[in-house]
Amino acid sequence: MGFDLSGILDARHGEGSTLHARYLNRQTPRVLHAIGFDKVYEGAEGACFVDADGERYLDFLAGFGVFGVGRNHPVVRQALHDLLDRRVADMVQMDTPLLPGLLAERLVARAPGLDRVYFCNSGAEAVEAALKFARCATGRPRILYCDHAFHGLTAGALSVNGADEFRSGFEPLLPDTCIPFGDVESLERELRRGDVAAFIIEPVQGKGVHVPPPGYLRDAERSLRRAGALLICDEVQTGIGRTGRFFAYEHEGVDPDIVTVAKALSGGYVPVGATMARQWIFDKVYSSMDRVLVHDSTFGGNAMAMTAGLASLSIVDDEGLVENAARMGQLIQSGLRDLVARYELLADVRGRGLMIGLEFGKPRSLRLRGGWSMLQTARRGLFAQMVVGQLFQRHHILTQVAGDHMDVIKLLPPLIIGEAEVRWFLDAFADVMDQAHQGSGIVWDFGRTLVKQALIR
Ligand SMILES: Cc1ncc(COP(=O)(O)O)c(C=O)c1O
Repeated sequence: MGFDLSGILDARHGEGSTLHARYLNRQTPRVLHAIGFDKVYEGAEGACFVDADGERYLDFLAGFGVFGVGRNHPVVRQALHDLLDRRVADMVQMDTPLLPGLLAERLVARAPGLDRVYFCNSGAEAVEAALKFARCATGRPRILYCDHAFHGLTAGALSVNGADEFRSGFEPLLPDTCIPFGDVESLERELRRGDVAAFIIEPVQGKGVHVPPPGYLRDAERSLRRAGALLICDEVQTGIGRTGRFFAYEHEGVDPDIVTVAKALSGGYVPVGATMARQWIFDKVYSSMDRVLVHDSTFGGNAMAMTAGLASLSIVDDEGLVENAARMGQLIQSGLRDLVARYELLADVRGRGLMIGLEFGKPRSLRLRGGWSMLQTARRGLFAQMVVGQLFQRHHILTQVAGDHMDVIKLLPPLIIGEAEVRWFLDAFADVMDQAHQGSGIVWDFGRTLVKQALIR
């Protein structure tokens, strides 16, 4: 009997959690059980997926931003089938295949000023390349990064991570320097030391969903230019239309020297990362024939990833997804802003396009303070987790808390959503907020369950 994927999937159906507990990260099934997310999923299409009981769920997480074009998009699927059927000579390594050239051509066409592309397999790898390229091109050692920054979890990317909970236990890291997000004076102070290769920043921070203060990136760019240091925009999450522009740095009117992309470029199928940079930076890194492989990755530019990337970019254009992200983002954000006055627990709505943060805050009324304090005392961020849990259980909408120990929910739906999905979310959110503002009942019962789980972590 040969390999039979369908047979295996049918025979072992429902064993995922047990296998994870036994062979993978055993905390994953524990956490999912604690927050009530331990389900088995059967299929997915567009902005929805379906569980083993046939229930539909609305995906406002998009695989952490991977499913820009939605799940199982027929154009990506067909392109991958076509590629498999052509039996191409992939990863010969000693050749110059067509597909990476085509994808690079399409990417640089969207990024005036950037001329060259290095392909790899993930966002973190794209960041690693950016950090190495910046050091090599400038001949300087130090990278500046922002507090709360997230650029991936490999050792180099972790060295520019602005959150202790990720760094702890993995030191020593590279000697890079954290500066406050939005503070140009701190940036200039560090630049005066003369050893800074680059400043890396997410044009909208993923952790907590923070948009830079107006003019900050432009001022930072000016200071960097004066100091001969580079601006790296990490667009792994914000890129390919997420914020209502193809790249989020376009909102800021800056011209970065290096840009990283990944996630949505994959079409939701094949891992891929890309580091785009100016010509002179590549010329420094790959300065002679001897250095042809000085930074490289075996799978970088593989045909499946390149095909998925080309198909995704084509869908983004054909379906007007950048414009749709801007329009739907505006619709959700304005609907949510209307709710800030209605719900005292809702403190702020922020974001760009379809990258949206909802922040909760301490209620004014005594009636709600007890419940809020109970959750805060057990663990900061539990109120947001309670809302995420109720959106999921009561309304079948998948969202996430925007970072550890913060009462912020992040919305990251696929860029294909329409008004029906926006309405589904807004109605659901209002219902959960109504329940929470009653100060008792099923929402707070779930909160008490979360507190118990937090105490036994
Ligand atoms: C801005 C940013 N950079 C880098 C990464 C790392 O990407 P990956 O998980 O593909 O390594 C992420 C992942 O969330 C990200 O949001």
